Amino acid sequence: MHRQRLFKKFTSSFLRKWWFVILVSLVLVAIGAIVFVFFFHWVDLVIDHELPLSESSMTFQWWRKPPVNPVMRIYVYNVTNADEFLNNGSKPIVEELGPYVYVETWEKVHLRFNENKTVSFNQRKIFVFDPEQSAGTEDDMVVVPNIPMLSATSQSKHAARFLRLAMASIMDILKVKPFVEVSVGQLLWGYEDPLIKLAKDVVPNDQKLPYEQFGLLYGKNGTSKDRVTIFTGASDITRYGLIDRFNGNSSLTHWKTPACNRLDGSDGSIFPPHIKKSDTIYVYDKDLCRILPLVFESEVETAGGVPGYRFTPPVDVFGDTTENPENECFCPGGPPCAPSGFFNVSLCQYDSPVLLSFPHFYLAPERYRLAVEGISPPKKEDHQFFLDVQPQMGVSLRARARVQINLAVSQVVDIKQVATFPDIIFPIMWFEDGINELPTEVTSLLSLATRAPPIARAAISYGLFAVGALLLLMAVGCLVRSSRRQETLRLQASNHYTKPTPTPNPHAAAAAAAAVNGKNGKTMETLNPTFLMGPNDNGNAAANS
Ligand SMILES: *[C@@H]1O[C@H](CO)[C@@H](O)[C@H](O)[C@H]1NC(C)=O
Ligand SMILES: *[C@@H]1O[C@H](CO)[C@@H](O)[C@H](O)[C@H]1NC(C)=O
Ligand SMILES: *[C@@H]1O[C@H](CO)[C@@H](O)[C@H](O)[C@H]1NC(C)=O
Ligand SMILES: *[C@@H]1O[C@H](CO)[C@@H](O)[C@H](O)[C@H]1NC(C)=O
Ligand SMILES: *[C@@H]1O[C@H](CO)[C@@H](O)[C@H](O)[C@H]1NC(C)=O
Ligand SMILES: *[C@@H]1O[C@H](CO)[C@@H](O)[C@H](O)[C@H]1NC(C)=O
Repeated sequence: MHRQRLFKKFTSSFLRKWWFVILVSLVLVAIGAIVFVFFFHWVDLVIDHELPLSESSMTFQWWRKPPVNPVMRIYVYNVTNADEFLNNGSKPIVEELGPYVYVETWEKVHLRFNENKTVSFNQRKIFVFDPEQSAGTEDDMVVVPNIPMLSATSQSKHAARFLRLAMASIMDILKVKPFVEVSVGQLLWGYEDPLIKLAKDVVPNDQKLPYEQFGLLYGKNGTSKDRVTIFTGASDITRYGLIDRFNGNSSLTHWKTPACNRLDGSDGSIFPPHIKKSDTIYVYDKDLCRILPLVFESEVETAGGVPGYRFTPPVDVFGDTTENPENECFCPGGPPCAPSGFFNVSLCQYDSPVLLSFPHFYLAPERYRLAVEGISPPKKEDHQFFLDVQPQMGVSLRARARVQINLAVSQVVDIKQVATFPDIIFPIMWFEDGINELPTEVTSLLSLATRAPPIARAAISYGLFAVGALLLLMAVGCLVRSSRRQETLRLQASNHYTKPTPTPNPHAAAAAAAAVNGKNGKTMETLNPTFLMGPNDNGNAAANS
């Protein structure tokens, strides 16, 4: 009959609509799941796209001219008993002076982007003494071992005896002594040394030392002559910021194996992104003479609330060949090789017997510290070398490059001036080059970049899950309810037909249907989220037509 058809039409369109809602809710849940699974991957893709250095990238300006002033803190070991040490064989006594603080300004100059997605530059560093933060002035007079002299005498150990005697008489004439008294400024930035002056005058041009004065940081204030080429990351993000060439050389030449001659470290400011705790990251510094591996140590919170990973050199990084057999290749002249806890940079320092260690002989056997009086036991927080990086973006957040410079003196009895100077590893000074915090504009951006993705992922995926689940529940609920109603409706309808009616009135039946309908419509209206279905939805329209 007409009424039955109307009823069928109504229920089928009603059901179809709710099945559609179920479908939509399932799709929402599925999208939520996809977002949940792949969101970080998408963020990584965005990072990989934004990070590479180019003139338009945001990272470029920060990299070219870092918006921070790294600070160099220098501590000098002042020898207070030089005469007793030489004449009476007493233990050397040193007094740690400092810090002498220099505020640095870094800039990369003579930039050139190359075809092969690399960029070449010269590093410019300006050091300005900061008397406020320093415990002393650059004019403080200190007594330190005469490095040029002791280098020359130590080197002559294996030379012919007459050469050593000749050296002794030259040193007599020049009146050089095993200890020099110089100001801190001179020790760092250079002073006239008679031996170096002599060497400069007599040595043939091609073997000349590249400097005229002696200073531990001599020539470091200004633009470096070294031409560095690094990868921009545009072709391969896993090499972002790593050195391609150093003065046109793609590897070092001092060491025995390609592994030790590797040069592909970072300068410490930027690293390939997506750093994992299991990764080893590498920094290269010319004066370190090698790439230095750094391994994960802990999770840290840096300035501005930016979380980071702390990377430090492994404890056996300067281990001797029994502790760390891999270091064998750093010992081209040996055995004997550098003792445990020291790194021999002689080949990078014009054959001076310079050994690097960590400050206060951190990670070296205690006997080296006790061979000298006046050096407190090393403390991890004060003397450890570390670097805190933001792992997703590979940006350095905080760094302390801490290194001690020692002179490995060999006793040479033929040279009377140093005949009483025993075999000893003599500490000269240590420094800490570091950044403490990035400017607020950078940290707030990094903080946002660190915290936003997890929040965004949670908001989007959980939001989709919630809306999907709600819709699903509602749809299922309505379906169940409407199927029950169908039962009652059918019952009511059959009652209506079986009951004998005195005055069959088609309008009454229609009114009844409309009443039921209206009731249904009302339920739907109250349940329906209005954004999916208007109150004037199809059910009502179909029934009312
Ligand atoms: C360094 O030690 C010497 C003694 O060897 C002393 O005369 C000098 O004052 C000391 N320097 C400082 C800055 O304390
Ligand atoms: C060196 O030692 C002798 C005795 O061992 C002592 O008399 C002398 O004072 C010492 N010299 C110095 C400078 O300490
Ligand atoms: C990239 O190009 C520069 C300049 O042409 C060159 O010095 C460098 O060796 C090249 N690097 C590679 C990996 O080819
Ligand atoms: C470094 O050079 C700048 C000028 O280029 C100068 O102002 C500054 O005093 C120098 N620093 C030192 C430690 O010599
Ligand atoms: C690398 O540099 C060294 C000097 O430091 C030089 O002797 C060597 O020839 C260079 N190697 C290449 C491949 O340019
Ligand atoms: C450091 O290396 C140089 C060159 O290989 C070597 O002659 C010297 O003996 C080494 N010094 C030490 C203390 O191992």
